[in-house]
Amino acid sequence: MAYRVPTTLPAITTPSRPPTLSLHCGRTRRGHSLIAAGERRSANRTRWAQGGAATGVLDRTEETVVSADEVVWGAAADLQPTVFASIDRLMAANLRKVQAAFREQRIGPHHFQGSTGYGHGDWGREALDKVMARVMGAEAALMRIQFISGTHAIATALFSVLRPQDEMLAIAGHPYDTMEEVIGLRGKKGVGSLMDWGIQYRELPLAASGSIDWEALASAVVPGKTRVAHIQRSCGYALRPTLSIAEIERAIKLIRAQDPSVVITVDNCYGEFTEELEPCAVGADLCMGSLIKNAGLFLAPTTTGEALKGGRLVAEVMSREGYTVIPAPGLPTTHSMITAIEVGSRDSMTAFCKGVQKLSPVGSYIEPEPGVTAGYGDEVIFADGTFIDGSTAEVSADGPMRPPYVVYCQGGTHWTHWAIALESALTALRAADAAQGQPKAQQQQPTQ
Ligand SMILES: Cc1ncc(COP(=O)(O)O)c(C=O)c1O
Repeated sequence: MAYRVPTTLPAITTPSRPPTLSLHCGRTRRGHSLIAAGERRSANRTRWAQGGAATGVLDRTEETVVSADEVVWGAAADLQPTVFASIDRLMAANLRKVQAAFREQRIGPHHFQGSTGYGHGDWGREALDKVMARVMGAEAALMRIQFISGTHAIATALFSVLRPQDEMLAIAGHPYDTMEEVIGLRGKKGVGSLMDWGIQYRELPLAASGSIDWEALASAVVPGKTRVAHIQRSCGYALRPTLSIAEIERAIKLIRAQDPSVVITVDNCYGEFTEELEPCAVGADLCMGSLIKNAGLFLAPTTTGEALKGGRLVAEVMSREGYTVIPAPGLPTTHSMITAIEVGSRDSMTAFCKGVQKLSPVGSYIEPEPGVTAGYGDEVIFADGTFIDGSTAEVSADGPMRPPYVVYCQGGTHWTHWAIALESALTALRAADAAQGQPKAQQQQPTQ
């Protein structure tokens, strides 16, 4: 796996030194006043969430309750000409890149024939790997249905390059929950985690801004000992901003300046196609992701773009509703697939997720409840009525049951799915907040 990889499901990707490999598994139109309700904001999170705020001026003197659908469709109307239009351009750029890779490899009907046994001479698989490598800006790629999840692809990459006594340095704070057992930070000892194999682990906490601690990173690598520098691009279940490709490139340069032989790995889950370049194109060695999160390679740019628009709608609506949201609405950048909403309580998380689940294509009659989930230390709730278990490409909302009680929203094959899901989720959330004696005051946009 000294290269980058592509297929239809989870995959891994990297560049050349070890070769790069990619492994992938509202406003109303009636001029209502804005009412702010920020009492649950923490200093840090508020800082991370800044960036702009819904347009319009808050007027705390007048309180007006606006229906959920008015909030949602008013916000959507505001986003169409600006934020949605710029995401459309991103989608087109990425679709052009993917289509060019298909054209370069002369993908034809013969590539879709099945294969059995060893799969020797499987033209489809070979071509797909090449297409993915090109798209990811990597030297080689492995797109394999046998990578059953993002966690599997990431673990495969780490186990392939780390050896006893090596150090793994996580440079973007604590890794995603399911990585804790892979590394050995949680769970039973002696079952084969990286730490069980004598690998040492260290992490650089994020700076107060929520981004990489650049000063600490400048001298964090121990040449000859630090074998892997690991970067998690997206937020996971943490209230922190998603890293931009520019930040990832800056980190890679800082690491290389200390020791060019360090293997730089990137957890790219929820990162693919959120910008025009991928981590291997800016120097990462191994990049791992999961395309079940964005519906397969050819549809991925469009699906990702629509999910980005859905996320911007969630941010706009929930911020107008009075919640802290990351990334905040109005940010010029749109590269986060995940939108985190701090709803503040277990009941509110549950209500929001139930509201979303009702609008899912599969299992809309199911009422999600928090529960123990393999791979996670906390109870987790999932609104994930998806066609494939583990997929979040359809509308999905989830989160671990721990303070400050945050729901993470992602997916949506078209932003309008988020619009109708938000109508339902907002109505459920308002009822739950009222039952807890904590109704939020809606912030509405004046007509522009
Ligand atoms: C940043 C990040 N890394 C890894 C994963 C794990 O992916 P999977 O659920 O496919 O194992 C996730 C899942 O949400 C994630 O957000």
